[in-house]
Amino acid sequence: MTRPFHHDTVLLTEAVSLLQAEAGRVIVDGTLGGGGHSEALLARGATVIGLDRDPTALAAASQRLAPFGDRFRPVLATFGRLAEVVPGPVDGVLLDLGVSSPQLDVADRGFSFMQDGPLDMRMSQAGETAAELITRLSEAELADVIYQLGEERLSRPIARALKAAKPSTTSAAVEAIKGAVPRKAWPKDTHVATRTFQALRMAVNGELDELGLALEALPQVLKPGGRAAIITFHSLEDRAVKHAFKALCGDEQASADPRRRELDARQPKATPAFRSLTKKPQTASEAELDKNPRSRSAKLRAVEKCA
Ligand SMILES: C[S@@+](CC[C@H](N)C(=O)[O-])C[C@H]1O[C@@H](n2cnc3c(N)ncnc32)[C@H](O)[C@@H]1O
Repeated sequence: MTRPFHHDTVLLTEAVSLLQAEAGRVIVDGTLGGGGHSEALLARGATVIGLDRDPTALAAASQRLAPFGDRFRPVLATFGRLAEVVPGPVDGVLLDLGVSSPQLDVADRGFSFMQDGPLDMRMSQAGETAAELITRLSEAELADVIYQLGEERLSRPIARALKAAKPSTTSAAVEAIKGAVPRKAWPKDTHVATRTFQALRMAVNGELDELGLALEALPQVLKPGGRAAIITFHSLEDRAVKHAFKALCGDEQASADPRRRELDARQPKATPAFRSLTKKPQTASEAELDKNPRSRSAKLRAVEKCA
């Protein structure tokens, strides 16, 4: 039977095993979504505090996870507010970033360039929509967003076209983007609107800011011995996680300046507060890739707070 709210959970075994889920451990799933990771954590005996900013996801996951009784505690909140909403230090934090399949597949949510719908993209279903963001930003500001968050080289012509078109639907935005990018510059493997849609979605939902706040909160919200596991889907997110984890593990890049390096080497080394559990990010197995093509870009990194 297919569930009405279905999302194929990525790197499930890997994440659950890194988080050492078992009875007595409290784990925060900061991106509850369809509840796939949470279900596996609960099945191994852990208590789960499940956060999602999307009320539809929270309701669907709460229904799915009801059989676990009060070991599952749903909270409507952004994971940027982790330190505020978590009652005390916990044993684990999981983030599986991005949008869920139901968010992408429901045309009315306005995330997808493959389906016509309102140009919305709000995970929380509150605040400024993507259409309103395009109206509010100047052409130069919009080009910066598309360049920085979408890593789109043709950000300027695309921003100009979007400002002129004032799209209120996903199809109108796609048409504007298509018109701004010469046919020969269309990417071969992805849709021409992929990067721009990613940038708009990230801006509407403040995604990098949210991630930064959650990373900052880790030392406070984790118990000694507690673990954080984060799954990312593109290079901007992965870079942020990699650098934050390196800093937590006292493993900052050596300075390019030889005199600075010499000085650094003479400093007594502070005991690192965290240790890395994934020297290289974990990625999906062949078997998972066959079943779920979306897992191709997933990278899982994890750290443990030192006791
Ligand atoms: C990729 S899905 C998670 C899927 C889930 N791990 C599963 O197995 O079903 C990401 C979910 O995180 C939520 N989300 C994204 N950013 C968030 C944030 N800053 N705070 C809270 N929830 C967020 C989205 O609404 C979405 O439901």
